[in-house]
Amino acid sequence: MSRRRSTIMGSRSCRSSCPLTGIACVMALLQLVTPGQGHTHPVLTYKNASTQLGQLVTSSTLVWETYDPKDSKQMQSAVEGGKYISDEEHYPIYVCRVTIDGVRTSGHTEKKQQRHVCVAALFKHAINENFDVLMNRGHLGKIAWKHWTKFNAGIPVGAILIGDESYIARHRAVHPPNAEGGESHRGADYNLGRLEPVGLGKIKVAENDREKYYDDGEVLVETEPFSYELRDIKLDRLRTSLRENMTELASSVLENRGDTYATMEKIISYSFDYLQYWGSHEGVAKGLPTKIYEKNVATPAEINWALKRSEKRHENKAVFSKLWPGTAINVTLLGNYVTLEAPYTAKLSAFYYDSESVSRKISAEVRKSYLKDVKMEFSPVYWIENGTLVPTTTTTSTTSTTTHATTTSTNEPTPIHEPPMVRVEHVGDKHSGPDSLEKTLNDSTSTNEVNSHEAPENMSSKDAALAGFGVGGSNNAIATIQATGYSVLAVVSIMLLNL
Ligand SMILES: *[C@@H]1O[C@H](CO)[C@@H](O)[C@H](O)[C@H]1NC(C)=O
Ligand SMILES: *[C@@H]1O[C@H](CO)[C@@H](O)[C@H](O)[C@H]1NC(C)=O
Ligand SMILES: *[C@@H]1O[C@H](CO)[C@@H](O)[C@H](O)[C@H]1NC(C)=O
Ligand SMILES: *[C@@H]1O[C@H](CO)[C@@H](O)[C@H](O)[C@H]1NC(C)=O
Ligand SMILES: *[C@@H]1O[C@H](CO)[C@@H](O)[C@H](O)[C@H]1NC(C)=O
Ligand SMILES: *[C@@H]1O[C@H](CO)[C@@H](O)[C@H](O)[C@H]1NC(C)=O
Repeated sequence: MSRRRSTIMGSRSCRSSCPLTGIACVMALLQLVTPGQGHTHPVLTYKNASTQLGQLVTSSTLVWETYDPKDSKQMQSAVEGGKYISDEEHYPIYVCRVTIDGVRTSGHTEKKQQRHVCVAALFKHAINENFDVLMNRGHLGKIAWKHWTKFNAGIPVGAILIGDESYIARHRAVHPPNAEGGESHRGADYNLGRLEPVGLGKIKVAENDREKYYDDGEVLVETEPFSYELRDIKLDRLRTSLRENMTELASSVLENRGDTYATMEKIISYSFDYLQYWGSHEGVAKGLPTKIYEKNVATPAEINWALKRSEKRHENKAVFSKLWPGTAINVTLLGNYVTLEAPYTAKLSAFYYDSESVSRKISAEVRKSYLKDVKMEFSPVYWIENGTLVPTTTTTSTTSTTTHATTTSTNEPTPIHEPPMVRVEHVGDKHSGPDSLEKTLNDSTSTNEVNSHEAPENMSSKDAALAGFGVGGSNNAIATIQATGYSVLAVVSIMLLNL
């Protein structure tokens, strides 16, 4: 299937984005307020839903909206039914719906002074001032007038229900010849009315002040897309918020219960929720499969439009340390769980089974939660038997404030020749790291991220016992960590597998 694209640019303007200066900007969520709209009612269409032909399904793109003469922009997304042509005037007419004597029928709008009226008929002509207009919100619904005759039978798939058992239809207007013998172009080129499928069916329209019946005409049908794609995603950097939450992922104890100085190993597993929500937009069907093409991401994420997608992601780290017999260390893995929220603009393309795709620019809000970086924290070495800290070669006074090491040994220092070596390796699939979307925030300064692409070469005492490592490089870094009273040499090794 070849898919050509036509682009319809939406009227919503793209917000100007200012350069991001800090880590997170003050949040002022863009409220996607739907502009002053009248009363709306759902539109039902005749669909080939699942296997059953003839189910009435609520349209995701069309809606009936009460006409509001004060809203000059209302007709911008109204569905056209034809043109009104006269010597003085030339304007589109729209599909409208009225209730006459308790029965719903459709017609077309015409202008009377500065407002629209609905020309519709049920037996006799009627000009209606209170009516509903058919709206194609978001301009993503594909609608077409489809030829109909009573011989090709039945209700076309996608026909739009007006009331009980009648569907929007039209018939080309026949104009009486003018003085010169040619056809005079005065009035609407089509008369709108309804298809009544009783028997073989009839199209009934308002014509010359009366209702007329025809065996053929055109029926309005809506085609709904089967999937969407989101591309050219641009975040509003000024309104982007990044909330960071350092959370404990897992903790464990590495201990040597043997009788030789040996390397102990432990695999620590943890999981986190990877969440994404790309917002909603009027006229875009909720739940439809949507591929999200983010910049520099090889495979698109697959979501269901307007629904939150949540995945449990699992990671494993192997922790190694050489320990003396009878000693242990506590190891904790911490992760920076980030929630990014940002208004964005993007190009949304809708795909249809048997016609070309439609694209338009939309704005919505995205929210993503992910694990940005995982850090290891470990305790001083202690005796398994009594929990007393084991003094190591360096005994310095308590100067640094650390997040972990707490006690100072009151014992006689029994110097042990080496401080423990603690090493961490990533095992299996890696899912944590700065999010692809977050990376696009810094396009101009892409590689100056701090402490995230690689383990820092030297660590300040403030970060003692915190060995950070992230995504983006395969580095081995050796860090000297100054814990309270104990010097610990940590070798942080990052092995990135299956990135
Ligand atoms: C983006 O840049 C800011 C400031 O230059 C920096 O603080 C932040 O860590 C960067 N983020 C990423 C994902 O590169
Ligand atoms: C309706 O669906 C059935 C079964 O899925 C299919 O055979 C038929 O061609 C469809 N009709 C139309 C008009 O799409
Ligand atoms: C941080 O994460 C913890 C655990 O995941 C959660 O209970 C807490 O509410 C979060 N705090 C914030 C400010 O999001
Ligand atoms: C190690 O962890 C245990 C609990 O698992 C705790 O009681 C103990 O105080 C910890 N030791 C050190 C030195 O942090
Ligand atoms: C704790 O146990 C170790 C090993 O048995 C021993 O050397 C140390 O003296 C003990 N410390 C205390 C305070 O009991
Ligand atoms: C790291 O520390 C060593 C020794 O303390 C020092 O020579 C080196 O310059 C430091 N490197 C950086 C990048 O600060």
